[in-house]
Amino acid sequence: MKKIAVIGTGYVGLVTGTCFAETGNDVICVDIDKEKVDLMKNGKVPIYEPHLDVLFERNIKEGRLRFTTDIAEGIKDAEIIFLALPTPPGEDGSADLSYVLGVGADLGKLMTEYKVIVDKSTVPVGTSEKVEAAIKAHATVEFDVVSNPEFLREGFAVDDFLKPDRVVIGTNSARARKIMGELYKPFVRQGNPILFMDEKSAELTKYAANSFLATKITFMNEIANFCEIVGANVDDVRIGIGSDDRIGNRFLFPGIGFGGSCFPKDVQALVKSGKEYNYDFDIINAVLRVNDQQRLRLIDKVLNHFGDVKGKTFGLWGLAFKPDTDDIREAPALYMIEKLLAAGAKIKAYDPEAMANVKKQYDFDIEYVDNQYTAIEGADALLIATEWGAFRNPDFELIKKNLKKPKVFDGRNLFGLEEMEERGFYYESIGRRT
Ligand code: UGA
Repeated sequence: MKKIAVIGTGYVGLVTGTCFAETGNDVICVDIDKEKVDLMKNGKVPIYEPHLDVLFERNIKEGRLRFTTDIAEGIKDAEIIFLALPTPPGEDGSADLSYVLGVGADLGKLMTEYKVIVDKSTVPVGTSEKVEAAIKAHATVEFDVVSNPEFLREGFAVDDFLKPDRVVIGTNSARARKIMGELYKPFVRQGNPILFMDEKSAELTKYAANSFLATKITFMNEIANFCEIVGANVDDVRIGIGSDDRIGNRFLFPGIGFGGSCFPKDVQALVKSGKEYNYDFDIINAVLRVNDQQRLRLIDKVLNHFGDVKGKTFGLWGLAFKPDTDDIREAPALYMIEKLLAAGAKIKAYDPEAMANVKKQYDFDIEYVDNQYTAIEGADALLIATEWGAFRNPDFELIKKNLKKPKVFDGRNLFGLEEMEERGFYYESIGRRT
């Protein structure tokens, strides 16, 4: 059992704190947002993430998971302090480290005994040195700064945390290495590795992993676009290349571009880091360019098909950047809405979880409805932007009945071409013939 403090109860902090409590540690989560802390003290999870609520409630009940707004109280007894603070992109695309460094300075002033301070946020190469300096400027005791990036996927975060493919721990300190090794031992039962490396390599591992995955998706999007031109079918090409172990069949699904809180931000931050060291990432710059275009690919198809969409109505299924989350950060649907509205179209949107977030953060002039079939009543076409489970197996007869004409533009390739033809739909998707 270790005593742990987690500073910052955003997505990463909450999952980290809850999962460490679940493995028997004593965890206290610190956040400056009093309202949020009160909510959590009452057993409410402030984000939507499958399975998190059950673990959250259990560990609060068993006294292993506590919350406070008082950082001094939070870190007093902790041997390990996780920093899970926001690192939003600044105007130039570089990660803003002011939260992380600010808390670092606070820790320096507050610590009265040796502690391991762990960077859990995704931070550019060299940040651990900066955190160390921020703490050292005030510290009177020994401490180690460790880089321990997370590899959680939204929607699968609890599972990814409890059963990681690997744990990356960046430190040159033998003392910190021993403590972190003990902490993570229960998580790698299946023999998955704990990889020890220096801080900079750990920091870069995170950016390299996300940028590689974003590149893989983008590569497939380009192949899909070319499939359309030459009349090939991307499903076959995907399976054709994915069955080669060296390529692998995961993360090869073409669509309307990658979004979310991680890929776009991290890919941009890596480019920015490169610039700081006078290194220009050719491939990754191209990935960003292609992805910008891909987000509007489906709308380009709609505009091509209809010519003028002024006054036309579209039913939009999906706003979240991917299913099983209410997260709309960098969601392709938002870019699609902007472009359609600019072209004079009307939109009726439905998403099982993400509508409240869009309403709160954007003042789009669109109609939000509480049922996927209501969204397409009297609409000129159905547009699919997120592959929610309920969209995969819909009532096709009802779709036909509700739409003016049976037209579906699918940014996630949910349906087979032949089945849609048999059902009498005009169907456009990504990387397949129309
Ligand atoms: C991603 C990574 O997968 C995690 O490993 C990482 O820890 C996390 O970022 C992070 O840095 O915190 P996440 O953003 O939750 O996780 O979502 P993914 O499931 O990876 O999807 C990212 C985007 O890629 C989505 O927009 C999704 O629609 C798109 N995607 C994914 C595709 O277009 N095609 C695919 O084959 C896979």
